[in-house]
Amino acid sequence: MQYRGLNELREAYLAYFESKDHLRLPSFSLIPQNDASLLLINSGMAPMKPYFTGEQEPPRHRVTTCQKCIRTGDIDNVGKTARHGTYFEMLGNFSFGDYFKREAIHWSWEFLTDVVGLDADRLYPSIYEDDEEAFAIWHNEMGIPSERIFRFGKADNFWEHGSGPCGPCSEIYYDRGEKYGCGKPSCTVGCDCDRYMEVWNNVFSQFDNDGKGNYTELKQKNIDTGMGLERLAVVVQDVDSLFEVDTVRNIMKHVEEIAGVTYHSNHESDVSLRVITDHIRSTTMMICDGVIPSNEGRGYVLRRLLRRAARHGKLLGINRPFLVDICGTVIRESGDAYPELVRSRSTSGR
Ligand code: ALA
Repeated sequence: MQYRGLNELREAYLAYFESKDHLRLPSFSLIPQNDASLLLINSGMAPMKPYFTGEQEPPRHRVTTCQKCIRTGDIDNVGKTARHGTYFEMLGNFSFGDYFKREAIHWSWEFLTDVVGLDADRLYPSIYEDDEEAFAIWHNEMGIPSERIFRFGKADNFWEHGSGPCGPCSEIYYDRGEKYGCGKPSCTVGCDCDRYMEVWNNVFSQFDNDGKGNYTELKQKNIDTGMGLERLAVVVQDVDSLFEVDTVRNIMKHVEEIAGVTYHSNHESDVSLRVITDHIRSTTMMICDGVIPSNEGRGYVLRRLLRRAARHGKLLGINRPFLVDICGTVIRESGDAYPELVRSRSTSGR
């Protein structure tokens, strides 16, 4: 498999789906519009809910994006582990009442195997427990033996986040090899360790959840897919974690330089380096989209992230304002894909 940088992978994905007649849209703002159920955009589909429900007409019925996302549910683990983060980019191809399971499955496989070059023998699809239609596509059309297709229940293979469009899904896992495994005899697809990494999620979005657990059938059948860009880069670059991915590593290197410490030299400083690297990515993106620190709502999330990053700077012995300098590196690494970062440089960095 050919090495590719994170920025190259993003472009390869968006260009592939453009070649399948998708309209490429820029990332939506992290601030949700007309959606009181979310503080911050947390997935590729979230800003497009009205297109899924049919309330609004999309600019095209096939759309592809790379969406800035923030998820802070695991904030206390960020830094402590190498797998948690608050900011990520989500690649997605979407169908609003256009194509459904067949095309979504075929294209996800073709992109991963032909375009990215992942070894098909290391890829394992999963389906929602009784989704025989998805099973038949994987088995009969894609030629995947039935023992390589895993069936999971609602906890794993039914996608929903708060209220809105949702549905059963079919994920694709990549076997990163024994060196990333837990070594338990029971270790297989679905294990919590780092060996079988979920890279792609095909959601067959056909229900609407009113937020209270009541599901109604949507007027149209949709496709919502998601692939964490950093995760894909972890696999393609064969690195241990998100913090070793090229662009993220460059941000951490700047923190290392300012602090005069090196990553992997000591557990405590590694935690601080990871917290600062993650939080500077999320806060730069939030400020760029117009979030300002405050005592409530998303402004409070921003304040908390900034405080944590500053505190970990102190723990590393940095005794001057430094986050603004690291912002400059975030803008350099991501400014081509997110020109708004460059336009708003004076608000968030230098
Ligand atoms: N919306 C789905 C996810 O975030 C694709 O995994």
